[in-house]
Amino acid sequence: MSYSPPYPLCQAPDIGNVKSGNDIEHTKRLGWDMANAHNVLFHGLNAMYNNAPNLRTRKDEVHFANYCLCFAGFLHEHHDIEEKLVFPILREHGLDMTKNSAEHEAFLPTFGEFETYVTTVRDGKEEYDADKLRALLRAFADTLVAHLHDEMSTITPEQMSKLDKPTVAAMMDAVMKGAMSSPPLTVGAFAFLHTDPKASPPWPCAPAPAVWIMKNIFLRWHKNDYWRFAPFDINGQPRT
Ligand SMILES: [Fe+2]
Repeated sequence: MSYSPPYPLCQAPDIGNVKSGNDIEHTKRLGWDMANAHNVLFHGLNAMYNNAPNLRTRKDEVHFANYCLCFAGFLHEHHDIEEKLVFPILREHGLDMTKNSAEHEAFLPTFGEFETYVTTVRDGKEEYDADKLRALLRAFADTLVAHLHDEMSTITPEQMSKLDKPTVAAMMDAVMKGAMSSPPLTVGAFAFLHTDPKASPPWPCAPAPAVWIMKNIFLRWHKNDYWRFAPFDINGQPRT
């Protein structure tokens, strides 16, 4: 299946009325977490595509380029965590992750071109051109979006039933620790500002003190520059 902007969000598995990520039925836990992470990426791709033609000043271009690089940081981190902390466990339990890993590699060249372009724009080495940015974005994103939707079908509750509850709990614990070691002002903040804050239970499932620090300190750091382009403001209000 091929996709074009605006990119559709993932449907997370129905987890019922639970208060925290730890209460989710273990066969649905990874799928729920993955859908939320993928939706961060879809929101980011749509925000970059929609904002690209609306920059007015050189300052806008620098802030927007930095915003795009935060997206890049989140995407690299998402795939690194999968390859290092998730897929090896799934493979051990008989799930086939071959196609997912191949797709991670496949979009890297075109994604690299996008990253290089926004970096050279940010550094003033190339003139900003909205049409070029959109073309470079679609060159990797149309494929990436297909991969992100396909991946959900490889971790359905039926497939995840090959893992027992303690194994899933330990894996998700490692995922959370990995996510919490990412740069909080860019990658961590990006996750929060591209997630509907009304969703329940809240995602990301970080410990309450870490969430408090994120919302009251880290999100404010770039609120008037990078995060002008995010779909939710630092108070959780949608921008459009
Ligand atoms: Fe994923």
